[in-house]
Amino acid sequence: MSTLEQAEARIRELTDELNHHAHLYYVLDQPSISDYEYDRLFRELQELERVHPQFRAADSPTQRVGGAPVDFLEKVAHPVPMLSLDNAFDEDGVRDFDTRIKRFLGLQGQQLDYVVETKLDGLAVELIYRDGVLQVGASRGDGETGEDVTHNLRTVPTVPLGVHGHGDHLAGDLVVRGEVLIPLADFAALNRRREAEGEATFKNPRNTAAGAVRQLDPRLAAERSLTFFAHSCADPAALPFPTHSAFLDAVPDWGFRVAPGWERCEGVLEVLRHLRRVARLRDELPHEIDGAVIKVDDIELQRRLGETTRAPRWALAFKYPPPQRTTRVNRILVQVGRTGALTPVADLEPVSLGGVTVSRASLHNQDELTRKDVRVGDSVVVQRAGDVIPEVVRIVSERRPPGTEPFLLPEVCPVCGSTAEREEGEAVLRCTNGLSCPAQLREAIRHFASRGAMDIEGMGEKLCNQLVDRGLVRDVAGVYALRFEDVVILERMADKSAHNLMEGIDRSRQQPLHRLLVGLGIRHVGEHVARVLADHTGTLAGLSAASAEELEGIEDVGPVVAASVRLFFDEPRNAALVQRLVEGGVRTTAEERPVGEAAPALAGKTFVLTGTLPGMTRAEAKAAITARGGKVTGSVSKKTDVVVAGDASGSKLTKARDLGIAVVDEDGLRALLDAGGPAAEADG
Ligand code: IVH
Repeated sequence: MSTLEQAEARIRELTDELNHHAHLYYVLDQPSISDYEYDRLFRELQELERVHPQFRAADSPTQRVGGAPVDFLEKVAHPVPMLSLDNAFDEDGVRDFDTRIKRFLGLQGQQLDYVVETKLDGLAVELIYRDGVLQVGASRGDGETGEDVTHNLRTVPTVPLGVHGHGDHLAGDLVVRGEVLIPLADFAALNRRREAEGEATFKNPRNTAAGAVRQLDPRLAAERSLTFFAHSCADPAALPFPTHSAFLDAVPDWGFRVAPGWERCEGVLEVLRHLRRVARLRDELPHEIDGAVIKVDDIELQRRLGETTRAPRWALAFKYPPPQRTTRVNRILVQVGRTGALTPVADLEPVSLGGVTVSRASLHNQDELTRKDVRVGDSVVVQRAGDVIPEVVRIVSERRPPGTEPFLLPEVCPVCGSTAEREEGEAVLRCTNGLSCPAQLREAIRHFASRGAMDIEGMGEKLCNQLVDRGLVRDVAGVYALRFEDVVILERMADKSAHNLMEGIDRSRQQPLHRLLVGLGIRHVGEHVARVLADHTGTLAGLSAASAEELEGIEDVGPVVAASVRLFFDEPRNAALVQRLVEGGVRTTAEERPVGEAAPALAGKTFVLTGTLPGMTRAEAKAAITARGGKVTGSVSKKTDVVVAGDASGSKLTKARDLGIAVVDEDGLRALLDAGGPAAEADG
């Protein structure tokens, strides 16, 4: 064997071995080598592939991470529509389902076999394999068309990059469907990490997983501990399994995980029994579920039952109510928000609620509190419904201990002692002390530094609290007076983090005007209104000088907003604050709008056109690209920046995907062209 052949053989061997160990580890949960040994093999493969890139396999484990970010998410038509499921909310609904399908099949009086699975609360995705190699991973979208999220799904260790070697039926197309989610323990760890780094924590695993799958940069998706569970395929009749349970038994051999807790049930009574079992199991599962799915086991019967436009007739989702638990109110705390609102919050004996430990629940305001009559010492039923923070559903009155008293919000701010007032027609009490109240100041600074505002990296909640509590920052302008010496001595700060923080603060000085306006926290001025105001007035000075009438003349700005903006700038304290921000070096101008003489937006970019575009000829597309400084070449290579793919694009598109090159359709091209403003005159 030549050295080249040896390298090729070793690369194949290492690829298979590493994939085998990943399977043992992630799917079967039975690792047989140490992480250290795995890493050693992985590095050997990486090195060999670096020297001999031509031998790198499509299913090489080195290909999971490090893919190039995409410019936007392309649309993917599902080969077979991804349907919804009909729902049942109680056992009668399940019995009706059983009766209904037996009647449909003419099998009244007989017993049908079902599979009951957990209903995973994640994001539905589809994985398309051709000849055993993962081609495309897509989100569900509207069921007909989803988004191409291959670059992110490749990073998920439980998404097999290749499924070959397990029998002939995997040749050709195989479309596996399932859910991507973040296990609860990983979610908790992710949030701990973010908290330690001063980043905002995520609200719930489902939305976090959905956000990760839709990232443009696969490195971000790779950091979120995503996992994939397979639960079906697009065309079960094309596989050699007579039953769905046989399919579920087989897919782990191909490298997919199937969620624990599924069972084959003979007849509807067994189904009901298993549904109750799953409900009891719910709190112990490593991930969130929102119900169970009941499926007819026999694939031939599934085929005969068929589907409506919305959902298959052979399956049913059984939805559990949101998890509720009873716990005790240890204290009622009063929190003061950015606008001074006093919010009563129940401090609870911690309980695990659908896998998340809950120790606080909002009681909203005095009216709510009075209506539910929640008192310190009460036993209360709490629930976590979807994304919302836990809430107190009701008290358990039989368990109220003697000697409790109704809870009344204080008439003074619990943080600064100033008077708290209730505005006409409002349900909330507010502290009247403005930014002299440390609680309001802490929140104001946190808001100023937050992602939608000045986006100061490293300035999370804990740090803001320290800055206020130590008197280092007395208003938002104080952020720009901070020195390295001030921050390096704070808790959990080191030279490097202090340095990064100073850099983050410095970078934020360049944020355009609308972000500064959001950061100032002017009432009724959110992101959209801030943009409109900034665009229209152009500068901070222009805005602060504009009269209420002038402001009202701007589209999307009504009298309430106009009055609020004027109120803000007319207040001498705020005028002084703005002055100090300017002295602190913040940018006071709006984001630039595209102007006539934009630099050629596509300068230095190489394009390849393939397939037929619906609304423009190739010559037109080429002229438009070159007019904006871009170059059009005939073949796809590593030097290509963008492939424009129309209908019937062939090998060029495949090659672009293989090389991780951005692919756009006609709309995408038009967006790129538009982003550059009007074109220079093209010749011809
Ligand atoms: S089977 C024709 N099995 O629920 C639908 N779906 O409400 C076949 N889901 O978006 C889907 N767990 O992604 C099936 N064990 C499970 C599931 C499951 C969650 C999702 C599914 C779909 C949604 C439908």
